[in-house]
Amino acid sequence: MFCAEPGTAPESGGKMGCSRKALPRSRPLSLYDPAAMSIPRWDPLPRRRARPGPTRPLARLRCLLGLAGALTATGAAACDPNLGVEDSWAQAPLPEPGALVDPQMADVGAELFRRNCVACHSLGGGSVVGPDLAGVTFRRTPYWIRAMIANPDSMLRADSTARALLATYQVPMLDRRLDAARVRAIVEFLWRADHGPA
Ligand code: HEC
Repeated sequence: MFCAEPGTAPESGGKMGCSRKALPRSRPLSLYDPAAMSIPRWDPLPRRRARPGPTRPLARLRCLLGLAGALTATGAAACDPNLGVEDSWAQAPLPEPGALVDPQMADVGAELFRRNCVACHSLGGGSVVGPDLAGVTFRRTPYWIRAMIANPDSMLRADSTARALLATYQVPMLDRRLDAARVRAIVEFLWRADHGPA
């Protein structure tokens, strides 16, 4: 049962107490859980294993279907389930004002966003299930955004901003179980969407 602590209910009129639907508890609390915290809240990101390459039959089939679709961008992307993601991206410093956007990361991030996020988020098209993410890199830090994508369950428990959003949107943000390199690429994409290519 998810219970807002007294005094932390958001100003949006969210009810205090235990009325809200239970959040999924499928995984143990992560490093973001303040109860288990002797380290800074957002670091390090938990490392998840990269998805296997295009060896699985399903991936092959998707690839062939994509090729049949006359080598569209989608077809080509379907042939590369890893999208050219590089493990080293997980360690790349987060974007900051004035720094150059990494175009390769941002392009991969765009495709990952299309596959994992557009069901619930638009970029400039208004709220869908979740908030419009246009301008999100101006209202939140890249650290916060990274944590929200990588570990929404913990954030929705431990972070007051995330809890306030949940009170407004009433649906918990979904954990897409992306590894750290993919999360990093999406952050780069969101940054480029707000700040432009350079
Ligand atoms: C099932 C729908 C769903 C999916 C899929 C989803 N989100 Fe969310 N997201 C939400 C909701 C709803 C919120 C608001 C918080 C809440 O209610 O849990 C949110 C909040 C956020 C926020 C904070 C926005 C703000 O205004 O501060 C970010 C950033 C975000 N999502 C990014 C992503 C990214 C990137 C993906 C894809 C990897 C994604 N989300 C996938 C539903 C979703």
